[in-house]
Amino acid sequence: MLVVPAAGRGDRLGAGRPKALVELAGEPLLVHAVRRAHGSGAVDVVVVVAPEGAVDEVTALLAPLQLPDLRVVPGGAERQDSVRLGLRVLDADVDVVLVHDAARCLTPPAVFTAVVAAVRAGAVAVVPVLPVTDTVKRVRGTLVVETVERSELVAVQTPQGFSPGPLVRAHEAARGAAPATDDAGMLESLGHPVRTVPGAERAFKVTRPLDLVLAAALLREETP
Ligand code: CTP
Ligand code: MG
Repeated sequence: MLVVPAAGRGDRLGAGRPKALVELAGEPLLVHAVRRAHGSGAVDVVVVVAPEGAVDEVTALLAPLQLPDLRVVPGGAERQDSVRLGLRVLDADVDVVLVHDAARCLTPPAVFTAVVAAVRAGAVAVVPVLPVTDTVKRVRGTLVVETVERSELVAVQTPQGFSPGPLVRAHEAARGAAPATDDAGMLESLGHPVRTVPGAERAFKVTRPLDLVLAAALLREETP
């Protein structure tokens, strides 16, 4: 099962509408993301967590994809709330749950299959990662406090994959706590091991306007 949090406002993109509904090559980011995820063959049920008031719009936008089992639910104030609401429609017999940001709309199919395979091989939580390329420093105000050893750092992407029970329990346990920016971090803080698989440069998150320019260029390159 795949949960797609798509209920964010997209403040940093600044398009004046929820980011998942912003168009890229004539289609909303969400449609690109779900098409690729489903095209990987690694997901069956798709749960989309829609922006407030946009459940019907999202259902209509995804209708052309003819997904075998699409469920659209309204989201919450923080990403973590949206994922928790998506997990409420989980079926009891699911063996793997993927959580994938609508904003990572060009994620290649191979990342989905690698994450699912790692969960099926016994991992409780799996994250796709890439090495960090910039030097990273810890600062206080304008003063550098420390340079962090880069060889130990990775940037974390989605889809993240989970064994359903631990993921649901982590979300329930985290209710009311400071919101987490990723799901695996919640399992990590409960002491579960989190495994990594190779991520992909194309799985970058559309966050700021420049990211949309990059995504459009990549799509043009894909479509001859
Ligand atoms: N998301 C969500 N519900 C929220 C906040 C975020 O479902 N309350 C989703 C977004 O739609 C996005 C993913 O979580 O697909 C990653 O979040 P982010 O990139 O931060 O998106 P936004 O919150 O929309 O952007 P911003 O933080 O710039 O407002
Ligand atoms: Mg956000």
